[in-house]
Amino acid sequence: MADKDIVRPEGAAEDWTIPQGWDRYSPAEHAMWDRLFDRQARMLPGRVAPEFLKGLDILRLSKPGIPDFDELSERLMKATGWQVVAVPGLVPDDVFFDHLANRRFVSGNFIRTPEQLDYLQEPDIFHDVFGHVPLLANPVFADYMQAYGQGGQRAAQHGAIDRLARLYWYTVEFGLINTVEGLRIYGAGIVSSYGESVFALDDASPNRIGFDLRRLMRTRYRIDDYQQSYFVIDSFEDLLDQTLRTDFAPIYSDLAGTADIAPEELLPDDQLHSRGTQAYALSKAETA
Ligand SMILES: [Fe+2]
Repeated sequence: MADKDIVRPEGAAEDWTIPQGWDRYSPAEHAMWDRLFDRQARMLPGRVAPEFLKGLDILRLSKPGIPDFDELSERLMKATGWQVVAVPGLVPDDVFFDHLANRRFVSGNFIRTPEQLDYLQEPDIFHDVFGHVPLLANPVFADYMQAYGQGGQRAAQHGAIDRLARLYWYTVEFGLINTVEGLRIYGAGIVSSYGESVFALDDASPNRIGFDLRRLMRTRYRIDDYQQSYFVIDSFEDLLDQTLRTDFAPIYSDLAGTADIAPEELLPDDQLHSRGTQAYALSKAETA
């Protein structure tokens, strides 16, 4: 993930990478990975996009526990030409985009503690690797992620990073996909979360809205809780075609000055897969 206004920590290279330090993980840290991995791998069949399940095997490496990035990158490189590199946490936007544009996925190297099992502020290695890497083994999604990095470099010139970040949020992190067997999850923020894997698909609260690039780029999102709206793509090919093979410059100019759409708001033209009750968000608002 990217962030603004952060300073490169001591020991990080110019491109912000650090050694993963695989040998330094404790048995408890490896056990935490295994626990999270087993819990999600058991729950995801029937809920997650088939492309994700297919890519999941890429994480079953020769060593137990937390994947060793060297071995993982070797496999990923063979599949789609991607690598995984460690960074100290959030990195600046330009660094993030540059890595993606060069088919390098940046990952934190720390893992959550047992107290943080279901809630984390900063993405850990489980989110970054379990959540993101399986789809990087899919050639179409792999191209989408690279194109996103290139799009980020262009968005910076248009002062439109916030708009483009919404595309990342509502696809790469919290996307749903329509399949012949019904809706499935694929966003890393969902698939790496036990609670949201169920909520995003089954709960009556959130809206599930057909993907619409311009609409999505105007939609604010929740960073502190489950999403109030999810956007549903038809296929990864369609996502790639509709978005990153498109010139965003005219879209950014069209959207300049338009009002933002609230996370829960619905518009008359929305293609609804389901209209949410927002009961969950309302119950949280009452107790806040
Ligand atoms: Fe992420």
